[in-house]
Amino acid sequence: MITLVLKTIWLLLPAYTPNNFAVLFGGGKPIDLNKNFIDGRRIFGDGKTIRGFVAGVIGGIIVANLQLIIERSFGFEVYSSVAHVYIRFLLLVFLLSFGSMTGDLFGSFVKRRLGFERGRSLPVLDQLMFLVFAYAFASALDEFHMLFTMDILITGVIITPALHLLVNVMAYKLKLKDVWW
Ligand code: CTP
Ligand code: MG
Repeated sequence: MITLVLKTIWLLLPAYTPNNFAVLFGGGKPIDLNKNFIDGRRIFGDGKTIRGFVAGVIGGIIVANLQLIIERSFGFEVYSSVAHVYIRFLLLVFLLSFGSMTGDLFGSFVKRRLGFERGRSLPVLDQLMFLVFAYAFASALDEFHMLFTMDILITGVIITPALHLLVNVMAYKLKLKDVWW
């Protein structure tokens, strides 16, 4: 059970980490170019920037490559089992990372339609939309189905909101965040 959880976290790092890179390197022009949707509210809002999106996607791919290096030097096979054709591995982790950022963007689109201002959290949607999109995008590849078996997919859906909460509580305790959620 603990190995299943650890394996799931490992497999999902290329989808988990993009948002951290977006937070670190985001800023500048918003993706919606400050435009409003037909309801008069912003399409995505100021929290979704072009630089953040690009940095997120690239960051996720870099993390996946570091994972490959770590697997090979410590002698365990998760991502390396599908990296014999490196370009296929690259495509897989790109789709996980790109799917994650696109899901994050779609989540903001939904929040703006509901009238939620930037930064206001919507539990479940904030924590799972990126994961659903990452799964959906990457599922176009056979390699995804070889690695992300049903037990992994389900574990991902269960542990992701819990991990989110855990990381936030830790950041709050370390005084990196003002609120614990
Ligand atoms: N960020 C970015 N570009 C993105 C995604 C995130 O620049 N495509 C940066 C922004 O600085 C954003 C921060 O990362 O404020 C945190 O991301 P997130 O929580 O997803 O955005 P929020 O500001 O909370 O906005 P929203 O209400 O739309 O979720
Ligand atoms: Mg937010």
